[in-house]
Amino acid sequence: MAVVERVWSREILDSRGRPTVWASCELRGGAIAAASVPSGASTGRAEAIELRDGDSKRYGGLGCRQAVANVNGPICDALQGNTFETQQQLDAALLALDGTPNKSRLGANAILAVSLAFARASAVENRVPLYRQFATIIGDEPRTLPRMTINLFSGGKHAGGQVCIQDVLVVPAAAKTIDEGLAATYAVYQAAAKLTQQKYGARALKADEGGLAPPFPSTESMLVDAVAAMRQAGFEPGRDVAIAVDVASSHFFESGRYTFDGQALDSHAMIGLVSGWLEKYPIVSLEDALSEDDWSNWPALKTSLGTKALTLGDDFLCTNPARIRRAIDAGAANALLLKVNHIGTLSEAAEALRLARSAGWRVTVSARSGETEDDWLADLAVGWNADQIKVGSITQSERLAKYNRLLAIEAETGLPVIAWP
Ligand code: PGA
Ligand code: ZN
Repeated sequence: MAVVERVWSREILDSRGRPTVWASCELRGGAIAAASVPSGASTGRAEAIELRDGDSKRYGGLGCRQAVANVNGPICDALQGNTFETQQQLDAALLALDGTPNKSRLGANAILAVSLAFARASAVENRVPLYRQFATIIGDEPRTLPRMTINLFSGGKHAGGQVCIQDVLVVPAAAKTIDEGLAATYAVYQAAAKLTQQKYGARALKADEGGLAPPFPSTESMLVDAVAAMRQAGFEPGRDVAIAVDVASSHFFESGRYTFDGQALDSHAMIGLVSGWLEKYPIVSLEDALSEDDWSNWPALKTSLGTKALTLGDDFLCTNPARIRRAIDAGAANALLLKVNHIGTLSEAAEALRLARSAGWRVTVSARSGETEDDWLADLAVGWNADQIKVGSITQSERLAKYNRLLAIEAETGLPVIAWP
């Protein structure tokens, strides 16, 4: 049980230098804690609304002063002095106050900042680590640490579109610990940086999430180079380390066609293309290989990938229980990319998780391309027993905050890293 003494908020800057929302929550017993919300660039159309000021003279319209004012005004007024037995009760109060289906009144950024700050203040009050507090939301215990999927190469909206797909990620598949997985990924990343310098004469230019972004001549060359870097680092691709791909195809899909390396592919051809990659490269997970609007073709994609790679839905599902239910019924995916700010409260994200689990799906807990130094995502992945975590590259402090937190949780709990399926 927690009585909210007050909540308050400020604007802070994210890893792209854009404003985002920070909020703090004080409980009656004296516990105080704060949290920050991230922000995406390759956003799904079904995402909850991130409130931006729209004043073009300030941060190009991206200011969050209105969202901050909503926390300091109506949200604080509604919560102050009230008792909440659970996170669900707090989140329900926020939803009722907003009253819109997509959080457009108060802003999902304002709402989520408060939802997270309350969870963290509750952890302080209950004298438990944050991952335990998160676990109580889903009525579970932390049992495993997530397997990492770490950005190596970037394209798409995170790298200026030099190639259409967004991320090629390293999966340290054989690593028994977080520590071992990070060391393996570092070796691959360094080998890739050297390779891109030799091959493209490019300095190690980095994209939004810290992935290397040389001028690849084709999309498939990202995969060729990833395998070469793995070998150069002394690993056996497919055994020691594997590849995950975020195709992020909604962002090159228009009028029923995928504009891929200068070709206009229909959905059938797109499925053929990515399925062909599985024959040549050690890919274990394919995210948004079809567009968020291409509902009728996702079941065929899933059938084609079979058990070789996860059919992972990001923009396609938007951590939205209604969309996940529809995808389960249609047999359209078998893995959920869970982004809490897709939906806007911890409780709704927990509902998305429960639904995905009820269908036997895998779950990847994910950061956004615009991140902050806050590390709550690592606790969430552990508390909710996520199969994978996707944070970005092994560079840049807003990413490393989460990896360093995973190292701390590993040292503290000794929990095992989940085996790759
Ligand atoms: P976003 O991208 O945070 O820019 O939406 C991350 C992803 O697509 O996984
Ligand atoms: Zn994605």
